[in-house]
Amino acid sequence: MADDKIASQKPPATGAFLVPTRAEDRLIVALDVASVAEAQRIVGAVGEGATTYKVGKQLFVAEGPRAVRDLVSSGRRVFLDLKFHDIPNTVAGAVKAAADLGVSMLTVHAAGGSKMLRAAAEAAAATKNQPMVLAVTVLTSMGQAELQETGVVGKPQEQVVRLASLARIGGCSGVVASPEEVAELRRILGSNLVIVTPGVRPAGAAKGDQKRVATPAEAIKAGANYLVVGRPITGAADMGKAARDIVGEIAGAV
Ligand code: C5P
Repeated sequence: MADDKIASQKPPATGAFLVPTRAEDRLIVALDVASVAEAQRIVGAVGEGATTYKVGKQLFVAEGPRAVRDLVSSGRRVFLDLKFHDIPNTVAGAVKAAADLGVSMLTVHAAGGSKMLRAAAEAAAATKNQPMVLAVTVLTSMGQAELQETGVVGKPQEQVVRLASLARIGGCSGVVASPEEVAELRRILGSNLVIVTPGVRPAGAAKGDQKRVATPAEAIKAGANYLVVGRPITGAADMGKAARDIVGEIAGAV
């Protein structure tokens, strides 16, 4: 689809477009741990430094819904990153179950197609909680050759734009995008789509296995609404300070 055609699409009628105004609400701390006990230790140490936590496959598979309930009942917001990818009816059911658990944001794979994306967005909009449905486009671990193995010809970047536009048309609240994709997606998709960006590293922090990174200020200036940060916070001696410093950088960039 041509860029101008994507930009002229009306914002979808479904999905909550929650764009946070407070800097502390724009930071999502990734709980990449294997137990609720470890998660609680991190949440306790971060304290007031962050309000939102990402629960991914490792913690969810190990501990189940209790990992989410524990956070929600303590007043935290939860980003459930399970990347649903299945037939529309099954994904809609999973989205409803996640919404009923009290999550605020969740992920689906845009490669599931427009019917699946719409089913996810409509299922979320029909719940009391109305979590944001965020679409993952091309996994950043996949290069051009690997993408080609799956039958996708063309550059990963083109596929990212194609899938992000599908997500928008399907009524999703937004997308998950790496720092290097943010500016281009913001330009093409306009301001109504939420962009959540991992791969963020404060200046001077270890990159870990992240290859293409941006500082919090760079990602925010490029158009990200939320930043997902794991190890720079969870590996810090003072997790609360690490989180507050990032929130300070976000506040200074808007
Ligand atoms: O520790 P770090 O800050 O690298 O954690 C980033 C989080 O974001 C991890 O949970 C990781 O799985 C997730 N993520 C990512 N890159 C993507 C998508 C998700 O790092 N492209």
